[in-house]
Amino acid sequence: MKILVVCLGNICRSPLAKGLLLSKIKERKLDWVVDSAGTGSYHVGQPPHPKSQAVALEHGIDLSNDRAVQLDQWMLDQYDCIIAMDSYNYHDIIRLCQTDQQRNKVYRFLDFVAGAEDKNVPDPYGLGVQHFKNVFKIIDEGCTCLINFYQNQQKI
Ligand code: 4NP
Repeated sequence: MKILVVCLGNICRSPLAKGLLLSKIKERKLDWVVDSAGTGSYHVGQPPHPKSQAVALEHGIDLSNDRAVQLDQWMLDQYDCIIAMDSYNYHDIIRLCQTDQQRNKVYRFLDFVAGAEDKNVPDPYGLGVQHFKNVFKIIDEGCTCLINFYQNQQKI
C-alpha cells in the first residue's frame, strides 16, 4: 500500500496523519509507504507547525525532519490512495485529477470512520494548542480505522 495524506498547507494536519500512520504501521509490521502533501504552496520547504510538532512529540512522534511539499500530478499516479483531510482539500484534489484512475482513489480521511457525522478534520491553523490536541485525537482514531480498512481489504 502507498498512501498519501493531503491537507492545505502540509504543516498542521497531514504531517500528524503521516506520523501517526507510520507509527501504527510499524507497530503492525506492515510494509506500507506513507507520505504527505499540501494542495497549497504557501509553506513549501517548511517543517510542520510548532504546535503539531509539540503535540506529536508528547506521543513520542518526532515530525522535525518533515518538510512541506505541494501535491502534483506525479503524486496522483504514484500512490494507491490519496486521502484528503477535509472537503475543501478533497475538491481541490479532484480538480487537479486528469484521469478517472486518479479520481477513483481520492477519499476523505473521515470516510474511513464509521459514524463520523462531520467529514472534515478541522483546520487548527492560527488556533490554540487545545485545537491541535483535538485534531491529534481525531486523526489518531481515524488512522486506526484507515489501516484496519486497508488491512482487511488485503486479506480478501
Ligand atoms: P494544514 O493547515 O492545511 O492542516 O497544514 C493550514 C496551514 C496553513 C494555512 C492554512 C491551513 N495557510 O493558510 O497558510
